Amino acid sequence: MSLMLSDQKALLPFGTSPARYQALCQQVEALLEQMTLAEKVGQMNQVAGSRDTTGAPANTDIEEDVRTGRVGSVFNAFGVEFTRELQRHAVEHSRLGIPLLFGYDIIHGFRTIFPIPLGQAASWHLAGIEQAARVMAVEGAASGVHWTFAPMVDIARDPRWGRVMEGAGEDTHLTSLIARAQVRGIQGRDPGATDTLAACVKHYAAYGAVEAGREYNTVDMSEWRLRSIYLPPFQAALDEGCASVMTAFNTLNAIPATCHPLLLDQILRREWHFEGMVVTDYTAIMELEQHGVAADASEASRKAVNAGVDMDMQSSDFINTLEALVHDGQIEEARIDEAVRRILWLKAALGLFEDPYRYADDEREAQCLLTDEHRRAARQQASESMVLLKNEGGVLPLSDRHRKVAIVGPLGNTPRLLGSWRGNGDHDDTITLREGIARRLGEEATLLYAQGASNQIGEDDTSGIEDALDLVRQADAVVLALGEDEDYADEAASRADIGLPGAQLELARRVLETAGDTPVATVLFNGRPLALTELDDMAPAILEAWWPGTEAGNAVADVLFGDVNPAGKLPMSFPASVGQIPIYYNAFNTGRPKGVDPKYASQYLDIPNAPLYPFGFGLSYTTFEYGALKTSCSEIALDDTLKVSLTLTNTGGVEGTEVIQLYLQDVHASVVRPLRELKDFQRLQLSPGECREVVFHVTPEMRGFLNAELEGVQEPGLFRVQIGSCSENGEEVEFRVRQEHP
Ligand code: GLC
Repeated sequence: MSLMLSDQKALLPFGTSPARYQALCQQVEALLEQMTLAEKVGQMNQVAGSRDTTGAPANTDIEEDVRTGRVGSVFNAFGVEFTRELQRHAVEHSRLGIPLLFGYDIIHGFRTIFPIPLGQAASWHLAGIEQAARVMAVEGAASGVHWTFAPMVDIARDPRWGRVMEGAGEDTHLTSLIARAQVRGIQGRDPGATDTLAACVKHYAAYGAVEAGREYNTVDMSEWRLRSIYLPPFQAALDEGCASVMTAFNTLNAIPATCHPLLLDQILRREWHFEGMVVTDYTAIMELEQHGVAADASEASRKAVNAGVDMDMQSSDFINTLEALVHDGQIEEARIDEAVRRILWLKAALGLFEDPYRYADDEREAQCLLTDEHRRAARQQASESMVLLKNEGGVLPLSDRHRKVAIVGPLGNTPRLLGSWRGNGDHDDTITLREGIARRLGEEATLLYAQGASNQIGEDDTSGIEDALDLVRQADAVVLALGEDEDYADEAASRADIGLPGAQLELARRVLETAGDTPVATVLFNGRPLALTELDDMAPAILEAWWPGTEAGNAVADVLFGDVNPAGKLPMSFPASVGQIPIYYNAFNTGRPKGVDPKYASQYLDIPNAPLYPFGFGLSYTTFEYGALKTSCSEIALDDTLKVSLTLTNTGGVEGTEVIQLYLQDVHASVVRPLRELKDFQRLQLSPGECREVVFHVTPEMRGFLNAELEGVQEPGLFRVQIGSCSENGEEVEFRVRQEHP
């Protein structure tokens, strides 16, 4: 059964050539033959290594376990001194001196923190996203880390789930392209070089589809939806050379992903021919008992390793049970050998056998972190990630004529803008919004600040609003800084109410009532799409800034004052109401679409169907005019490519960047097809008045889909191409793919 993207070539870690792959296999084979079963199992054991407040290893028996060959990898360990110390125990004291593999969650920055991945996705700037991943890899590798647990590619259609912040949103095509860019940035052009990391695509699979958006909850879907929507970004990452895979916590169709034969054996190994290593998520093997598919650690280990897991993160089930399972014949030693071969292969590919300390370089660590160059890259990526959601009355951009600016709101003067997976980022490094605006306005201007209200869940105190209103009355411009605390969208941070926490909405209402003709710009700092209908009803200008990272204040000021023209486009729908969830743009039409019959239609009695802000939406300080679509012809053969062109003109007064989006609809097919699916986009910068011809090519691959038999097919018939500035607008043109007669 053929699958989507790649042909049947093997997916080798780092995109290694078959020759190099085999050479490294032979290198590790010699070592494998010397290893006892206990030592093999030790390589399959990953433990957390972190320092306590005194700097001593928090996991006290880790050094003894390393010396006795019971540990193959340590995660959450970074810093040249600490990793060098741990490595010495492995290399100089264990029997075979096999080096440790150091892993860490470097998701959107190591010390220089970039916008959260959902924010980076809003930039649609693949080169910028790759650059951000490059910088975080350089910094992490300089600090002794070998392996990062990124990219996270979980498709998410439910903003109640806190980890939407960590992925690229709701669209499979955009997420797949971003996954590739992140793998390229993390692993570099020369994988194994000491300024690169091994990547680990996660969480395999479908973690973003947890029921009710509740963290760690059940996932259940058709295999058609799994393979069409949730798996392609994983295949894309592996096709780009990603070195490893991490299993997900959740069940998928009543089987936990961490012992799922369809995922771990059938698809990953037999269909995709992936040869790299599979590590579990944190204690996921032990959790097979909680799921109810294992009576004890032994059964959990047996199921996980026989399904295809190679390394156990933090359960200790493998180290405590695998030897006995092999001795009593429940596990073949050949399966252990296969797992250990993959682990040793990765260590060999990283050059750790030649020099176990090659990543632990004091000089590089001292020079590489939080450099001005890295800060500049973070600032640019942050400003490119911002999405202008509303701008009535020309409130934005603000200008230098504003000499007394009031910043009001709980996010106006806080360094907590790094996001939840902030690696080794330090809040002290963060440029707050207040600092960013102060730097932008200069010392002659007056900057006023009042928190006004809390952004903590449940803190509804409004007593601070009056003081804020006093400042609003004095100001010639107001910046409302609202949003979520950076730990409100994270692992173990689902929210059932996705409005603005605390009394922020009341604060906004009172400020907007008091401001009169004084311009009020609202800046949102949040990790997920929020329910903003009430804010949208009253605020004239809204800028979505996500959690922008270390350079937050400077990047927001760049956009607020027009030094950067916002070009972000939403990677995830913002619902009009939490009651619409799951909501996503590439939905089916249904048999009774809204608008045909006033009553008997797929709709609600009390809320709209449409999101407040749709996928792909984002405004600019300039305007763009889309010319008429032209196609190379109106009928093509199955294996033909259709050329579609148009002109794009910057009809405004300032330079701007537009993300032109191409959506495709297969109007009649053997299975239901979405009303539209993103298939391509171009990100173009145009000067005022500039007109550019834009050409797209609709290829047979873009027209492909999985039929009811889960086969990758393309079918003849009527198609519609929609090209525009977001998923809900744009001109359409039809074409036909003719039936080929044998
Ligand atoms: C966490 C996360 C996973 C992360 C791992 C190591 O629970 O689910 O994404 O890589 O544990 O920190």
